[in-house]
Amino acid sequence: MGAEEFVPATRDTARLAEAARACRGCDLYQDADQTVFGAGPAAARLMLVGEQPGDQEDRKGEPFVGPAGRVLDKALDAAGIDREPVYVTNAVKHFKFTRAERGNRRLHKTPSRTEVVSCRPWLYAELSAVGPEVVVLLGATAAKSLLGNDFRITAHRREVLALPPALDAPDVTPDLVVTVHPSSILRGPPEQRDEAFDGLVEDLRFASGLLAGQG
Ligand code: URA
Ligand code: SF4
Repeated sequence: MGAEEFVPATRDTARLAEAARACRGCDLYQDADQTVFGAGPAAARLMLVGEQPGDQEDRKGEPFVGPAGRVLDKALDAAGIDREPVYVTNAVKHFKFTRAERGNRRLHKTPSRTEVVSCRPWLYAELSAVGPEVVVLLGATAAKSLLGNDFRITAHRREVLALPPALDAPDVTPDLVVTVHPSSILRGPPEQRDEAFDGLVEDLRFASGLLAGQG
């Protein structure tokens, strides 16, 4: 179990993306349509990491192009961040789902710890290849992938965190910032949506402020 043996020793994001199409590092490739690798400039200064592709991302092969992507785009816009120069990816590269009992809708399922750890070599390879200055971890899955399974987002918002040392960790030192996942805003109570959205926008602003400071 694990993507290690599929990850080529290269810092070329296009070659990584190509190799990831054939990954069999965990069982998730079996039911999904395709690998959804990160997208964006190879030398992006800002990287965003989500959880895993959703239904529409799986069909299109691009990250954050469904409902969560629309919330993300609105939040980036409100924070004054242009998405084009940003590298956007996920902690897990295949869509995990169950079929709805009625109809054939595919319902998101949270990836297991084993799946997150299995897929992490791809995220490490992207970090190493892109070398971003700032990385925003969107939601618990991305945060736990890089910061450990006991990590809790709420206690660490608007803090500058670092990648903990690990034998297989990439040799880069981006500032890490954690925030909520855009989907949590859609799933949460409607009366709290505005506040939750504003919190996401503030966190994104905080992250891009770190970039400007290094300018
Ligand atoms: N949710 C994610 O975490 N990533 C996507 O790409 C889409 C939805
Ligand atoms: Fe490989 Fe990740 Fe897909 Fe599992 S989820 S098969 S580790 S790319």
